[in-house]
Amino acid sequence: MTVLDPHRPAPAVRASPSRSARTRTYAMCRPTEFAVDYAINPWMDPSRPVDRARALSQWEGLLATYRSLGHAVAVVEPIVGAPDMVFAANGALVVGDVAYGSSFRFAEREAEAAAYASWLRSQGLHLVPATHPAEGEGDFLVLGHVVLAGTGFRTSLAAHVEAATVIDRPFVTLELVDPAFYHLDVALGVLDDGRGEAPADIAYYPGAFSLHSRRTLRELFPDALLVTRDEARSFGLNLVSDGLNVVLPQEATTLAGRLHQRGYQPVPVELDEFLKSGGSVKCCTMERHA
Ligand code: ARG
Repeated sequence: MTVLDPHRPAPAVRASPSRSARTRTYAMCRPTEFAVDYAINPWMDPSRPVDRARALSQWEGLLATYRSLGHAVAVVEPIVGAPDMVFAANGALVVGDVAYGSSFRFAEREAEAAAYASWLRSQGLHLVPATHPAEGEGDFLVLGHVVLAGTGFRTSLAAHVEAATVIDRPFVTLELVDPAFYHLDVALGVLDDGRGEAPADIAYYPGAFSLHSRRTLRELFPDALLVTRDEARSFGLNLVSDGLNVVLPQEATTLAGRLHQRGYQPVPVELDEFLKSGGSVKCCTMERHA
């Protein structure tokens, strides 16, 4: 039996930083062209049918979720014959009034680059086109003090160097080695960008990265939330956080529980039609970073 001594101080509870939300500006592209007509990542199987009406209603659900959390969302209309244009994260890297455009690795998505560039220009942004393969916020994740830049499958190392001349922030290159995690935003999620009171906070799946990049991540984020391969395969890391509310696919139940323990408010959404194309929450969302 444990006897509680009233004179002994209560065991110290490790204070978790208090989380707070900051209003964001997003862009999303309506999935009226969404399909899986080709396979450019291991999740895509053109023989598996896509239910476009269902995709559309799931996408509307994500849009409504952001708006109910108080975020501003601009809607981009897709160009005809661009089934992957719904993945707005890939359209550019946007920080302030400057956008570093995209240059897609595969010909299948090439036309999207110009479509996003002209949309961003119409919004008054200064757009610098990429002259090397670059897939926007699929591979560039923006924090207050640093931009994490993925390479290995889509975005080239040369694009990291080029983007760093356009976006006024240090860039840290991270090498992806597992084809299931072909973009940085499926291997790593930014929980807190560190621009508020709380320190920068990320979650990632170490197995997606080269040994050297794992060491870089350990050095930069010693307190990061490490997730298992299964958690990552449920696309849980393809999340969008405002510093408090973390929007993530509803399949990622284990991760949602761990985020709750860490002081976040998980906001699960149904987005499984897009998993057939290897995408989820973050892929469908371009953020205009402050
Ligand atoms: N089917 C698309 C592709 O392979 C999915 C893109 C997902 N986007 C992302 N930001 N991870 O290019």
